[in-house]
Amino acid sequence: MLKRLCKTFICLLALSALGTALAEEPIVIKFSHVVGEQTPKGQGALMFKKLVEERLPGRVKVEVYPNSTLYGDDKEMEALLLGDVQIIARSLAKFEQYTKTVQLFDLPFLFDDIGAVDRFQQGPEGQKLLKSMESKNITGLAYWHNGMKQLSANRPLRKPEDARGLNFRIQTSAVLEEQFNAVGAKAQPMIFSVVYQALRTGVVNGTENPYSNFYDQKLNEVQKYVTETNHGILDYMLITTSDFWNGLPPDIRTELEKIVVEATAHANNEALRLNQKDRQLVLDAKSTEIIELTPEERNAWRDQMKPVWAKFEQVIGPELIKAAQASNTGQ
Ligand code: LMR
Repeated sequence: MLKRLCKTFICLLALSALGTALAEEPIVIKFSHVVGEQTPKGQGALMFKKLVEERLPGRVKVEVYPNSTLYGDDKEMEALLLGDVQIIARSLAKFEQYTKTVQLFDLPFLFDDIGAVDRFQQGPEGQKLLKSMESKNITGLAYWHNGMKQLSANRPLRKPEDARGLNFRIQTSAVLEEQFNAVGAKAQPMIFSVVYQALRTGVVNGTENPYSNFYDQKLNEVQKYVTETNHGILDYMLITTSDFWNGLPPDIRTELEKIVVEATAHANNEALRLNQKDRQLVLDAKSTEIIELTPEERNAWRDQMKPVWAKFEQVIGPELIKAAQASNTGQ
């Protein structure tokens, strides 16, 4: 009898130890992305990891997978929705399958600079867009900047006519396709990880990037000219699934929300710094010439590309476009 009681007691102890161990397993957040660590997004992801591990030790663990090592941009959304990763920072150009309104950010020559982008994103309409995919189980946590996009090719692009007949790699975006068609060029959607090879082998002849992505991917080795058009932006929405986020213990979610704010500030500061630094590194590498446009030359690109807006105005919403435009003067 005593033996049996002892066995039961030991069993109960073992079960309770197992229960405690299970209860103490940290929540794992896999953060997958497609660029290098020395980019605004790469730095933002590492800061997020650092702050989580300082403030929620043993309770939340963050694993960062840069450079498409876990999922490329063609698979990251599916992985997020299946719960295989918990956070991604996806380019705003890559949401059209989930919401048409975010296509706003791809309209060429919409924002004068990153300051205007920031004012719009932090304003009521920008904040509303973060919640525009809730019905699809997607929660926007923040916007992260990268920067203004520049055109590149192996021929100097000074006038829009110079782009005629070229084939440009684009992110999967109907607006970006129309933008290149508007200057008589072709556009080929392609995942980020293959862009270098596609340019090297001539599958495409040109592309558009902020300096940070251009240098991170060593595109200066395969593009002789960058034209400083600042014609559009490449920014990100930091997203998770509503199921994951709402299912977190409230105290952890509150702490993570604060950390997101800090990691966002860091990513955004890095965006400014790294784009300037990488522009200089492109110059130093001497393989690519940077073409600076006069205001008149830049206007010629704007005049050719801006008619694209009319094709998307109804799906994006004229009011939203107006609000974005207003951020250009909201100093
Ligand atoms: C691209 O595909 O060019 C970008 O979206 C990559 C990135 O995430 O910055």
